[in-house]
Amino acid sequence: MSDAGPIGVFDSGVGGLTVWQEIAARLPHESTIYVADQAHCPYGPRPAGEIAAFSTEISRFLVENRCKLIVVACNTASAAALYSLRQKFNAPFVGLEPAVKPAAQATKTGHIGVLATAGTFRGALFQHTAQTCARRATIHRQIAPGLVPLVEAGQFDGPQTGQRLRQYLEPMLAAQVDQLVLGCTHYPFLIPAIEKITGHQMTILNPAEAVARRVQRLLQNRQLAAPPHARPARRFYSAGDAAAMRVLLSKMKVAAEVERLFWRAGRLVRQKDGPIP
Ligand code: DGL
Repeated sequence: MSDAGPIGVFDSGVGGLTVWQEIAARLPHESTIYVADQAHCPYGPRPAGEIAAFSTEISRFLVENRCKLIVVACNTASAAALYSLRQKFNAPFVGLEPAVKPAAQATKTGHIGVLATAGTFRGALFQHTAQTCARRATIHRQIAPGLVPLVEAGQFDGPQTGQRLRQYLEPMLAAQVDQLVLGCTHYPFLIPAIEKITGHQMTILNPAEAVARRVQRLLQNRQLAAPPHARPARRFYSAGDAAAMRVLLSKMKVAAEVERLFWRAGRLVRQKDGPIP
């Protein structure tokens, strides 16, 4: 592994861009490769074995393209696959997990809310953290089906999004929740819509910045950080709706092309053969 390689980042879709954005801001000299597996999005309701298989192939694609570190910018994929990915590949992996611990430390009412997918709540990572924090706070878990497809469709603030969010958040408001953990990387795109409902009652915890700090520390510790004069290349790949991803990137003021990837016989491949030049 060399310091010249890119950082690989992947998610089921565009959600991981909320993490990518923080990494790009904190580490402007680092090249990145982002993969959105929109062919299989959402991951949330899928069996863990299936998500682990997708995650393995995406990681293989990233490793074959010289990634020096891989960020699983997806709570659901981290729950299903982080442990096995670390066994299978030499590259260091950074995963995501709902920020229950900081929420449990910060709560004044003793009630914290977690919005996440079914897969994330099922995973050992969440179960373990929830158990350790159970004495400090009551955890209100809310699976939030429907939000990921709305984000993928770019509907961050429409009436349908507002209605879904009210359905999930009003019971938390009634239960005096004062810390809201966003346990899915798609949800930070909905923060303005969430705040319209929660007002000042809740602090919203988005883990993206902490993940970027962790990536920075890991690169420094392993002497993998790009030199300060490096000129970063930022590449984006979609295994599904590349057009929707282009629209979102331009909304985020990121000028970049999005290349299409394809699943062929369980492998993730580019249209053109061979590794990224
Ligand atoms: N963004 C993802 C997460 O953090 C995936 C959601 C999904 O595909 O269901 O969990």
